[in-house]
Amino acid sequence: MYLFKLTGDLRAALEQEKKAGRTVGFVPTMGALHEGHLSLIRTAKEQTDIVVCSIFVNPTQFNDPKDFEKYPVTISADIQKLAAAGTDILFLPSVDTMYPEGVNGQHPHYDFGYLETVLEGAYRPHHFQGVGIVVHKLLDIVQPDDLFMGQKDFQQCMIIKRLLEITGIPSKLHICPTLRENDGLAMSSRNMRLDPAARQTAVQISKTLLYMKENIKHLPFVNLKQNAYNQLQNDGYQVDYVEIANADNLQLLDKPNGSPMVLLVAAKLGDIRLIDNMVVEGAVTTKL
Ligand code: PAF
Repeated sequence: MYLFKLTGDLRAALEQEKKAGRTVGFVPTMGALHEGHLSLIRTAKEQTDIVVCSIFVNPTQFNDPKDFEKYPVTISADIQKLAAAGTDILFLPSVDTMYPEGVNGQHPHYDFGYLETVLEGAYRPHHFQGVGIVVHKLLDIVQPDDLFMGQKDFQQCMIIKRLLEITGIPSKLHICPTLRENDGLAMSSRNMRLDPAARQTAVQISKTLLYMKENIKHLPFVNLKQNAYNQLQNDGYQVDYVEIANADNLQLLDKPNGSPMVLLVAAKLGDIRLIDNMVVEGAVTTKL
């Protein structure tokens, strides 16, 4: 695995690969890598010739500075995991490399429309602009044929799909399934910050989503969401939202309308904010 810290060096290396006719797959990350990230690398490896992974904890996407400061950093372990998973190139830029204009400098503003106003967009102001800014920069540098991202960040995937449309960047987005621990907890870098008691409680988010999935045909959405909310609150969470949305456009639903659906939860355990989602397969037709 080659490691690049500078944009020019990475561009030059990738130019050689592309000239030789090799396809490039890209997995952007903020490090603190877990099996979920590595499964993205493995999928990219199966589908493209050269796999590039970036590790960059992007300051512009943290609406809460404390969350940024506490974001886990495990670079040496990450490098070993990436090499073992078959990554060809690791891009490890500094803040100055990614933001020569300065973190508080002039950045583009993307029109993500409705997508930026709901759920994570409503609870984390400016977050998706920050994601858009950094992913646009990274795509500009790597110019991948294929881009691999995890369904765990469902709304982020929709934002990136929109970013590709807005910018006309031709990379193909692959949204890969969420990986879960044996008890169902969605893998996330933030899980590293959970103490043993919080780790035990953390599983309740996926259990709540499963409860919703199993009962979506039997209960009015308002009751289903309220039960889920109450359950999480009883378990000690501070709940941001429990929602049911159209999986194609994130319009919030108060009853089934024949569209594919996604169940989404965001809740805090102490100062650790967890999100998770599950897609409901097949149309839910019960009249409520
Ligand atoms: O999902 C993440 O890890 C980040 O939001 C991303 C896409 C790497 C942008 O910083």
